[in-house]
Amino acid sequence: MENKRVTIKDVARYSGVSIATVSLILNGNENKFTRKTVEKVMAAKEALDYQPNYFAQQMIIKRSKTIGVLLSDITNPFFGQMMSGIEKALYQENFVTIICNANFDEEKERYYLEELMRRGVDGFIIATPAISNQTLDEMLHSRKRPYIIIDQKRTEGLTDAVLSDDFTGGQLAAQHLIDLGHKNLVMVMPIDGAEHLQNRLRGFKKACDGHPEVSITIIDAPMNKDGGYKAAQQIIQTKATGIFAINDETVFGLYRGMEDAGKGIPDDYSIVGYDNVEMCEYVTPRMTTIAQSIPAIGETTARILLERIKDPEKQPEEVILPVTLIERKSTAPLTN
Ligand code: RIB
Repeated sequence: MENKRVTIKDVARYSGVSIATVSLILNGNENKFTRKTVEKVMAAKEALDYQPNYFAQQMIIKRSKTIGVLLSDITNPFFGQMMSGIEKALYQENFVTIICNANFDEEKERYYLEELMRRGVDGFIIATPAISNQTLDEMLHSRKRPYIIIDQKRTEGLTDAVLSDDFTGGQLAAQHLIDLGHKNLVMVMPIDGAEHLQNRLRGFKKACDGHPEVSITIIDAPMNKDGGYKAAQQIIQTKATGIFAINDETVFGLYRGMEDAGKGIPDDYSIVGYDNVEMCEYVTPRMTTIAQSIPAIGETTARILLERIKDPEKQPEEVILPVTLIERKSTAPLTN
């Protein structure tokens, strides 16, 4: 037997009202009708098990209840933890999240933004550094699409942003290594990294300013495990004993690189990471790191974006969340 799809016409016929009336009532305009009419339509919908076509409904109410998120590296657990904060807050408000992994590629970022727009998302969360504020202005701001920047950079007053206190994070890392007696320090990071990474470097340098006995070497490396692994081979050629890595992923690579080179942590090198992803507690030695409030970054971002969707004209908001030093076992006082 043919399984015929129930249409809005069937609901109208069953309830004895026009198609337009059914459409209006099922799209949130029930206050325009008597209670009796609304009840008839709802009863017909129930009896026929009518499921409105999602895309047709979206064209009428001009809302998809969907948010698009552009990420730079889906394999990094930082982004997984951040996404769970975003998803939790959006789910509570009945929104669905679409994740696009742009992999630090600006062309891909533009492509995904266009596609998300075509799919009618209600707002965008931008968690990638490659795309410039100018591009975001052209593609989103000037078309009045609600969006928010998360974690990477300031928005020059175009829209909202949720960031971490990266300058203080860099300072805390340097101060910790200096307090432990380390004088030859290395920072491992992508030299041309995004604004927030440069802020970590600025903070790191600032904390060293009053210590003429302290030297800093910057080692250029991509912020992933392979970058850390290869950086270890360069670090062992220097006099450094204290290392600050731009994120925890880099430290995982450093651990392996140091082990392969026969070096011990923290006996030969003290290492401070950045992020405080869950794995920091499960590696040996447990990792000293600068903790970002990762789920709070995600939840705050989702909340502010939903407010922006409700009130597109409100003043742009910039939230800077605090960071803290978590001392574990990968750092120790310099002994020789
Ligand atoms: O590990 C991912 C890093 O890149 C984090 O430090 C975060 O701030 C992101 O931009």
